Amino acid sequence: RIVFLNGSFLPPEEAKVPIMDRGFLFADGVYEGVGVLDGRLIDNEAHLERLERSLREIRIDNPYSRNEWTRLEQELVRRNGMTEGFVYLQVTRGVAERDFFFPQEGKPTVMMFTQTKSIANAPAAKNGISVITVPDQRWERRDIKSIALLAQVLAKQAAKEAGAQEAWMVENGYVTEGGSSSGFIVTKAGSIVVRPLSHAILPGITRQSLLRLSKEDGVTLEERLFTVEEAYGAAEAFLTSASNFVVPIVSIDGRPIGDGKPGPITRRLQELYLQMAR
Ligand code: PDD
Repeated sequence: RIVFLNGSFLPPEEAKVPIMDRGFLFADGVYEGVGVLDGRLIDNEAHLERLERSLREIRIDNPYSRNEWTRLEQELVRRNGMTEGFVYLQVTRGVAERDFFFPQEGKPTVMMFTQTKSIANAPAAKNGISVITVPDQRWERRDIKSIALLAQVLAKQAAKEAGAQEAWMVENGYVTEGGSSSGFIVTKAGSIVVRPLSHAILPGITRQSLLRLSKEDGVTLEERLFTVEEAYGAAEAFLTSASNFVVPIVSIDGRPIGDGKPGPITRRLQELYLQMAR
């Protein structure tokens, strides 16, 4: 396995970051995750655009152009011989003596690794997963893909301990999103309901592609808030993320969704997404 750190491709055991890195001390950094299918990066431009935005919002200069990022990502995928999986990239404000103020001169720490995994034919994609709901305990700028993920770590661990695979986070009775995914429901009338973009959620790249594909397919979209109660009574539910594509949700808080099996609209969208990615 080969990873990328500050301009070099290295074995992971040689890729070391000093303890004074601000990512380690303050979670002062942002990240991206890009899905890979058949050795190709999915929606990479959109991911790099979101990375640019995340970096701008926390005032770190983007170390690379989009073309440079793309070449590095592709090189890493190639060196790892990866056909299906996930490319993780992270930029922190770099190494400096511990002090909250930005360092006068700092060089960002840039890191990438790949995770090989089967996504399209994973059991989750085939059989669906269970989710639980938990309070959304995150900060107010969830649109920034920050590496500060403690609330999500706790939410997803709670899901695991409850025998579920994802946590849907809830604020004022409304679902915001999953611990590491965007959340959708399908109404009995067959329209897709998804929370509109705002500072309350991450603008999911898979979400964006899925909405484009459903529009093209003639599915009705309702971009609005939905409550946990509405989700319990939905005909179908599913999630999207770069690392899992489209995954059916067959139960929420132990209540079966629809007939407790992946629904037809979710199946159709899974198919459309894979066609697009291939
Ligand atoms: N998570 N919402 C949150 C809170 C996320 O962390 C993610 C992605 C998404 C989906 O966004 P996208 O479709 O762009 O992957 C939504 C990544 C995969 C992760 O942290 O592993």
